[in-house]
Amino acid sequence: MIEQGEFEFERSVLSPENRQEDTTDDFEVGLRPTTLSEYIGQDEVKDNIKICIEAAKLRGDALDHVLLYGPPGLGKTTLSKIIAHEMGVNIRETSGPVIEKQGDLAALLTNLEKGDVLFIDEIHRLSRQVEEILYPALEDFALDIIMGKGPAARSIRIELNKFTLIGATTRAGQLSAPLRDRFGIIERLELYKPEQLCDIIKRSAVILGVVCDDEGAAELARRSRGTPRIANRLLRRARDFAQIYGDGRITAQMARFTLERLDIDELGLDKLDRRMLEMIIKGYGGGPVGLQTIAAAIGEEAVTLENECEPFLMQLGFLSKTPRGRMATQLAYDHLGILKDGQTHF
Ligand code: ADE
Repeated sequence: MIEQGEFEFERSVLSPENRQEDTTDDFEVGLRPTTLSEYIGQDEVKDNIKICIEAAKLRGDALDHVLLYGPPGLGKTTLSKIIAHEMGVNIRETSGPVIEKQGDLAALLTNLEKGDVLFIDEIHRLSRQVEEILYPALEDFALDIIMGKGPAARSIRIELNKFTLIGATTRAGQLSAPLRDRFGIIERLELYKPEQLCDIIKRSAVILGVVCDDEGAAELARRSRGTPRIANRLLRRARDFAQIYGDGRITAQMARFTLERLDIDELGLDKLDRRMLEMIIKGYGGGPVGLQTIAAAIGEEAVTLENECEPFLMQLGFLSKTPRGRMATQLAYDHLGILKDGQTHF
């Protein structure tokens, strides 16, 4: 239930100028695919969503609520925009921490037209109170508002247009069970394979108008940590280096030169990944050590390590999570050239 005073028009969440875009920089926007057929990778997710979209359109109905989860940079925002585009509806974008009061969410919801998509990034960061008014909105497409105070208080119900909520999160585990249960479509995005990243880089290169040969694209793809956002970032940096140090073309040699200058190693580990592993190994004997301890020791936020470094390090088999903390594996020692007794390989 919403208190009357809360139910006011909140410009900060509604105005398109102030919409939360996710953490993506503006450069990324032009590279984003706008249709499912342009979207590379995540084949199972795409297939499932395609069926749901087709069926909803045939019924003339709004799409069921969708939850997209997985590591950052994999295209959750992009996919949400594609879904709205394919459904032929408007999308309003916001994020969990931006919706401070129940009234903020109410203002967003009452402005949605039939079938529209409301995209909430970082949905795990919605407050309890805001979540509470979301439940009837998701289930019955209605808002319950309390008018007045004390004995004179009465409850009124505002009907909403049938809409689709798309929630995105890197932390599905932090979502409350009642909220999670209200999504009809739940899809996990996986890290991309190098071949898929290679196709994404080649597509982006065409859009950016830069020549990037197959070997150059493959080299960048191999070291993009399974993440299109990183692949596109490396492509733009390689374009800069190719312009200044070469003839403008991104070849394997130019890609390797760029990556070396950016301190990105053979497998795509950056300085932060290596510092994290080195701290576990050299500072804590390989672990187990708690994430907060590692974060404090290297002066980084735990959530950054958890979101940005850990998914990839775990995929490589360099890091394992145990109930007692994080542990570096033998593969991590080998990659960093550190012997178990603390000596360094040469
Ligand atoms: N750019 C970023 N992500 C992409 C994807 N999955 N497919 C095509 N282009 C992209």
